[in-house]
Amino acid sequence: MKAVEIKPKIYWVGGIDWNLRYFHGYLTPRGTTYNAYLIVDDKITLVDTVKHYLFEEMLERIKDIIDPAKIDYLVVNHVEMDHSGSVPKIMEVAPEAKIITSDKGKKGLERHYKKEWEYQIIKSGDEMNLGSHTLKFVQTPMVHWPDSMVTYIPEDKLLLPNDAFGQHIGSTERFDDQLGWDIVHEEAATYYANIVLPYGDQVKKALDVLGQLPIDMIAPSHGVIWRSFIPQLLEVYPKWANHETDQKALIVYDTMWGSTKEIANALANGLEDAGIPVTTRFLQTSHMSEIMTDVLLSKAVLVGSSTLNNGMLPTVAGFLTYVKGLRPKNRIGLAFGSYGWGGQGARHVEEVLKDMNWEIPHELLNIQYVPDDDELQSVKETGRKLAKIICEKN
Ligand code: FEO
Repeated sequence: MKAVEIKPKIYWVGGIDWNLRYFHGYLTPRGTTYNAYLIVDDKITLVDTVKHYLFEEMLERIKDIIDPAKIDYLVVNHVEMDHSGSVPKIMEVAPEAKIITSDKGKKGLERHYKKEWEYQIIKSGDEMNLGSHTLKFVQTPMVHWPDSMVTYIPEDKLLLPNDAFGQHIGSTERFDDQLGWDIVHEEAATYYANIVLPYGDQVKKALDVLGQLPIDMIAPSHGVIWRSFIPQLLEVYPKWANHETDQKALIVYDTMWGSTKEIANALANGLEDAGIPVTTRFLQTSHMSEIMTDVLLSKAVLVGSSTLNNGMLPTVAGFLTYVKGLRPKNRIGLAFGSYGWGGQGARHVEEVLKDMNWEIPHELLNIQYVPDDDELQSVKETGRKLAKIICEKN
């Protein structure tokens, strides 16, 4: 297990989780990494750890560089267990180490691990000198938990932002340019949509502070390290934080006997005729966490459900619960569906879209049993009208 030197005397010593496919509701087809960083200086410092089952892998990488017992400081940027899970074991190996974290970080570690460790509590703006490196701390609450903070090393213009700017990519490549912009951008967008999206206001505050720092490397705690695509990254992150979207539409649906699918297709045809790119996702074949990336980028989100037992289909209800929790703003919504006698499915969809304060410029489309040609023409016309509204919004 080799460590990777990312800056002089600063090493990646994390763990690669090749098999991870599910991260609290989010599918991770490429696996992920938990990135820990070792700074070798007068004071030897480890920044963050790895999930508990990758402790030995991290330890081998640390041993590749130093005797782990010599670690003086352990910086805990964030308490969530994918990063703190190996804190108890590293504190056994390095019992003289002092934990550097925020007040909320200390409280979180105490609640998780019930151990008596030595702490140094820091707040935004505090600095620590390690010898030839300085650690500067900026608290970034709710990116991703209340305890979250970032560590900055000015001598190397290196930012260690923990969850922010992460991507779930498990790979032996350590740097963004080794995989290319298309892959890292897609995974960064999926990560943002599924993890960071509810905290746009906090992300903007963090970006304002971090924007004042000279940065030439961003080493997050998941995925690859940004060294080549930082300008592109810092262009898309504010856009996502501001809930800015592309001029495109997303149609998400499930269907019982195919009628809701016909309505979805007619809407797509109308939108495309009017020049709006459309992505259509069928909830029996696309997972909701994959669809979230489309939600992140789409101005209009059209959601369809058949009526089942006086309500939505369970797949649609699950999807909408997930979307509502992630709180995308400034979207145009439309509910549609088919029904036999009650018609509550599409109505319940519309209630959720309204609850999210999305603009609903057109009444819901609810068609009994099977749509006929005239109805499908009318649905297509609705797609064209929505396209016009989307164009006017951008
Ligand atoms: Fe990667 Fe919020 O933990």
